[in-house]
Amino acid sequence: MPHRGGLLPLLLVALAAAPLAVAWRPWPPRDASGALAGLGASKKFEGSSDFVKLEYHMGPVLAADITVHPIWYGAWPAEQKRTIRAFLRSLSPQSSGEKEGAVPSPSVADWWRTVRLYTDQTTANVSAVVALGQEKCDARMSRGASLTRMDGMVSVIAHELAEMASNPLANAWYAGGDPSFPTEIADLCEGIYGTGGGGAYTGQLLTDGRSGAAYNLNGVGGRRFLVQWVWDPYRSYCSGPNALDHQ
Ligand SMILES: *[C@@H]1O[C@H](CO)[C@@H](O)[C@H](O)[C@H]1NC(C)=O
Repeated sequence: MPHRGGLLPLLLVALAAAPLAVAWRPWPPRDASGALAGLGASKKFEGSSDFVKLEYHMGPVLAADITVHPIWYGAWPAEQKRTIRAFLRSLSPQSSGEKEGAVPSPSVADWWRTVRLYTDQTTANVSAVVALGQEKCDARMSRGASLTRMDGMVSVIAHELAEMASNPLANAWYAGGDPSFPTEIADLCEGIYGTGGGGAYTGQLLTDGRSGAAYNLNGVGGRRFLVQWVWDPYRSYCSGPNALDHQ
């Protein structure tokens, strides 16, 4: 998803993306009926490499410590804010003062490891450190009320964060010939959350015993999240720490 403008307005950026959802290029390509185009239905998918040519365009990645400053745009229920803060703190729990090993696998930090595989010309990797910075509220919605919240908020934030880290200036990691409509590392894996995912199928998920909710990542404070996978540059397919074939 194109999302320029630096790190500061992450949450705003993530939210601002919601009304633009129609402009997202769904992957894999679908025909007019919504069926997968050019793929046999039985094929193991998870973002088949046949279609994807992710390329490095010589620009920087976010190799320095990342600080996320949420801007709470509109009225946010306290519990939703807590969930998002917990997700952000789960990316590198030690940077947030959590004890090592406190979060079981597959964890949000494990998920971030795939993003950290991306390097720039100086061979610097995407930063391991992602910290929660100062927050701002924009409850009066200074940019208009048409921005809406959407389901899967944490996954949307994760998607944008992964792409900001690996393609911050739209000149690093993306597929497709047009840098103003780049297909970035999370765009390639939209809708894929587990092994076998693709088309309308999310892939294999875990189930929270208490609530019955599906999840795929553990976070700080015993929280569980459902976060889409990102493109793995070595495996050349979408990958996440809950994958069944490379635990
Ligand atoms: C940094 O990126 C390289 C190249 O993708 C990878 O081999 C290495 O494991 C990465 N290091 C970390 C700490 O993720």
